[in-house]
Amino acid sequence: MAVDRVPRRVGVVGYGRLGQSLVSHLLTQGPELGLELAFVWNRDPGRMAGNVPLPLQLQDLNALGERRPDLVVEVAHPQIIHDSGAHILRHASLLVGSPSALADPATEHQLREASHRWGHAVFVARGALWGSEDITRLDAAGGLQSLRVTMATHPDGFRLEGPLAAASRTGPRTVLYEGPVRGLCPWAPRNSNTMAAAALAAPSLGFDHVVGVLVADDSLPDMHVVEVELSGPLGPSGRSFAVRTRRENPAERGAVTGSATVTAFWRSVLGCCQLPSKPGIHLC
Ligand SMILES: NC(=O)c1ccc[n+]([C@@H]2O[C@H](COP(=O)([O-])OP(=O)(O)OC[C@H]3O[C@@H](n4cnc5c(N)ncnc54)[C@H](O)[C@@H]3O)[C@@H](O)[C@H]2O)c1
Repeated sequence: MAVDRVPRRVGVVGYGRLGQSLVSHLLTQGPELGLELAFVWNRDPGRMAGNVPLPLQLQDLNALGERRPDLVVEVAHPQIIHDSGAHILRHASLLVGSPSALADPATEHQLREASHRWGHAVFVARGALWGSEDITRLDAAGGLQSLRVTMATHPDGFRLEGPLAAASRTGPRTVLYEGPVRGLCPWAPRNSNTMAAAALAAPSLGFDHVVGVLVADDSLPDMHVVEVELSGPLGPSGRSFAVRTRRENPAERGAVTGSATVTAFWRSVLGCCQLPSKPGIHLC
């Protein structure tokens, strides 16, 4: 599959599990797909040494414009989106790998504003969210009444902050949070991305009405389980349309990203390279 409007220059921000995989794909498969690695930035540049060719290492994120990227992929931390999302959009379209950042209304506003000002798209990686297009379609048709996303894994797989970090566990399976996704994202910024993607896929419900549930489960040492439950309004028969999916994704012990999600991210990069750079937020 060759992408159109070649070549596309792609910058990668973050060189952890996802970043390393994307950089490797871009270096090995990019040329035949018309994609060129423009730069790699990581908070700790030492991590790139010996792995990323020196000319491709970017030392100062503020200087990314010099590398003339068409697309910048963020796979680091939501803080990067808060701090640098609008700046990135001045120079390129942005693929957000940490959409929990958009639970902050100021950040969402900044990104939308910069997107329209500079004519660049904000793409959001669907990541571990199964059925995102179906959710969006149902939502657009006015058929979505409720949406609930449950993410369960071993406690070692969580990076929790504030009150959630201090939450006591009551047994082998503990519900750490259940409520609006907006309230979860600040305290579980790296474990709420799937729920944030769901909130963006269903704008009629959004961050305030999509329900997120975070479960610490000792029986899932090497697995991320994401369940999506949705329903439509009551029909004339007194019953409503309902869907329930369960995604079991093998993951390395303690990792925030499961194996299948790494593949999904590469597909998102390819997907948004084929889309026009239309202002606004688009799931990819
Ligand atoms: N959308 C989804 O469904 C989904 C799924 C998995 C992961 N993610 C998100 O993608 C991002 C990357 O995931 P990963 O598995 O590669 O993580 P990782 O921990 O393996 O790597 C993260 C990288 O970002 C850097 N980093 C961490 N905090 C930072 C900060 N505050 N500022 C700048 N750099 C920072 C780290 O040094 C590391 O190089 C995370 O935010 C993760 O939550 C999203």
